[in-house]
Amino acid sequence: VKILIHPDAERAADCVAELIAARLRTEPATNLGLATGGTMEAVYARLIAAYRGGQVSFAGATSFNLDEYVGLPPDHPCSYWRYMREHLFDHVDLTDTHLPHGDAADAEVEAARYEAAIVAAGDIGLQLLGLGANGHIGFNEPTSSLSSLTRIKTLTRSTREANARYFERFEDVPRHAITMGIGTIMRADEVVLLAYGAGKVDAVAAMIEGPVSAACPASVLQMHRKVTVVIDEAAAKGLK
Ligand code: F6R
Repeated sequence: VKILIHPDAERAADCVAELIAARLRTEPATNLGLATGGTMEAVYARLIAAYRGGQVSFAGATSFNLDEYVGLPPDHPCSYWRYMREHLFDHVDLTDTHLPHGDAADAEVEAARYEAAIVAAGDIGLQLLGLGANGHIGFNEPTSSLSSLTRIKTLTRSTREANARYFERFEDVPRHAITMGIGTIMRADEVVLLAYGAGKVDAVAAMIEGPVSAACPASVLQMHRKVTVVIDEAAAKGLK
């Protein structure tokens, strides 16, 4: 695992945007695995700026997002479809985009369809990940099987609380999500994980220096061939 510690979140986001842009320049037909959440907003803002400046194009790329809430249709203001349109898709030349459909009649069938679509596309080339304060990647909460495929996961209370800021009321935060599995993520050719801020300090330490354990799903990345972890000094404080 390559660990890059930057002085602040701004510089960490610069670094991740550049890693993505560099991959697209050398391999325009990359399958990008994308994440949502507060962490990624700065990354997408930089990629939009780079696109407008003619420094990157997504025209040859395909994207698959990690996850979506069960029950939310694509046009719901809190859906990850909406997040992606607002923060990236509406502003760049990326057209071949995929997310799980949270409003599918049968979420289990939809999860299996999504996994098969990723396999059919040849798996993910560069997978972008955030990190939950509890060590989750995607919505693979602690105790998730380390070889899981795309499926429905029940969100922990702490994850629902962390994401409640996007909803009007805590009760509105969905209880389930469709998420790529840990096994799905581990098939990616390359993984770039971004985390910053004091809230991630314990999860960062457990991911990098803890045992490989389902108690901290991100720790499985220790077993991946090509991982770059990009953090700021605040998130790095728990490292030995
Ligand atoms: C988002 C996702 C999650 C987030 C994580 C961190 O698609 O899969 O794993 O990356 O919860 O979220 P933020 O960035 O809001 O702290």
